[in-house]
Amino acid sequence: MSLEVRINPTVSQEDLVALFTDARGSPEHDCPDFPTLLEHAMFYACGYVDGRLIGFAKVIWDGGEHGFLLDPTVSTAHRRKGIGKQIVSACVREAGARGVSWLHVDFEPHLAAFYRSCGFRSTEAGLMNLRDSLTAGSDHETI
Ligand SMILES: CC(C)(COP(=O)(O)OP(=O)(O)OC[C@H]1O[C@@H](n2cnc3c(N)ncnc32)[C@H](O)[C@@H]1OP(=O)(O)O)[C@@H](O)C(=O)NCCC(=O)NCCS
Repeated sequence: MSLEVRINPTVSQEDLVALFTDARGSPEHDCPDFPTLLEHAMFYACGYVDGRLIGFAKVIWDGGEHGFLLDPTVSTAHRRKGIGKQIVSACVREAGARGVSWLHVDFEPHLAAFYRSCGFRSTEAGLMNLRDSLTAGSDHETI
């Protein structure tokens, strides 16, 4: 099995939907309009085996030294073969070459070993679900 990782290849909505429905169990109708999202990325990486899209990740950018890694995804049939790590490594190299100094990521606890194996170290971070907090009428409104 030979993996090819390409930066910013032409990739169709259909291929990305197929990957994300398989890898993340997202129903097809919940998938976003990927081409629009990709326009907002600093860059994205696609992994191919035998010409078929089997992996993905993207980096978004603050316009300065900070990048944020989003959506590392590998098809269920190709997991635990080092592909996720190779796609993230390609993103790390590309981000560094484009002047990013700090690459951020957040993840659920069960993926800590994966991101550690990719070279990320732990830090305190914060995350807020604005949709939920706005719906619930959050304290943040009453300062
Ligand atoms: C996370 C994901 C991209 C990893 O892809 P992968 O190709 O299977 O990962 P790799 O084979 O490169 O893993 C490298 C190392 O990370 C660790 N690792 C990877 N997946 C892991 C898991 N699910 N649980 C614990 N450790 C894991 C292992 O140490 C692994 O090395 P090993 O197989 O020799 O033990 C893949 O599981 C996936 O697509 N998950 C669903 C989407 C998702 O949740 N993405 C993350 C969003 S934050």
